[in-house]
Amino acid sequence: MPLCLMENIRKIYRIGDIQVEILKGINLTIERGEFVAIMGTSGSGKTTLMNIIGCLDTASSGRYVLADREVSTLTDDELSQIRNEHVGFVFQNFYLFPYATVLENVLLPTLYTGYAGARQDSAKKRAIELLKLIGLEGRSRFRPNQLSGGEQQRVAIARALVNEPDLLLADEPTGQLDSKTASEIMDILSRMNKQGKTVVVVTHDPHIAEYARRIIYIKDGLIFE
Ligand SMILES: Nc1ncnc2c1ncn2[C@@H]1O[C@H](COP(=O)(O)OP(=O)(O)OP(=O)(O)O)[C@@H](O)[C@H]1O
Ligand SMILES: [Mg+2]
Repeated sequence: MPLCLMENIRKIYRIGDIQVEILKGINLTIERGEFVAIMGTSGSGKTTLMNIIGCLDTASSGRYVLADREVSTLTDDELSQIRNEHVGFVFQNFYLFPYATVLENVLLPTLYTGYAGARQDSAKKRAIELLKLIGLEGRSRFRPNQLSGGEQQRVAIARALVNEPDLLLADEPTGQLDSKTASEIMDILSRMNKQGKTVVVVTHDPHIAEYARRIIYIKDGLIFE
């Protein structure tokens, strides 16, 4: 069974009387260990698709299976549980919590998983290991505003990985960064992928997409490879 399986996924947004169909029957399979880039023009539905893949949102119709769970039948609580266990998110704007230190930011997702006591100690150990892995162990007590954009995004990657998700989703992770810093971020994602993580990246930038081993295009609500 693939990690993600989509069959005829549709997404319709309703605003008042107006209905707009953004995804018009997506069929997509992502195997464990893949590195996939999703490309398409602005407004084509890349974020919409990512949010469904990551269970931040649900499809209007169609079948979606993530990590052997039929997502369309899950309640909101079950959705947030599957999201917490299986998915790590990285966003264009980093979304770090400004009043927390780097280490506390990396640990945030572990609070929702109910880590306590000894489990919290092991989560902390893992957070420190991740900070080492991305070269920020010396910054663990810094606040986000004391970091560069590239450093903030590295912290966001560590945070996305702390619950050891199967799937790492990054929506325009380099959109705010210069090209050199962007390559550094993509090198980190490649490294995570080589270590076995499944990675999906949304990007406008063909150079960024080249890091992936498979490129998917969204156009007119459908995907092309
Ligand atoms: N919550 C919502 N309600 C109504 N329409 C929405 C909603 N979210 C997205 N849309 C519409 O769906 C379309 C696709 O949006 P989406 O954010 O998925 O595009 P995108 O490909 O990620 O674009 P960008 O490259 O600019 O980030 C847009 O036309 C947008 O207006
Ligand atoms: Mg988007």
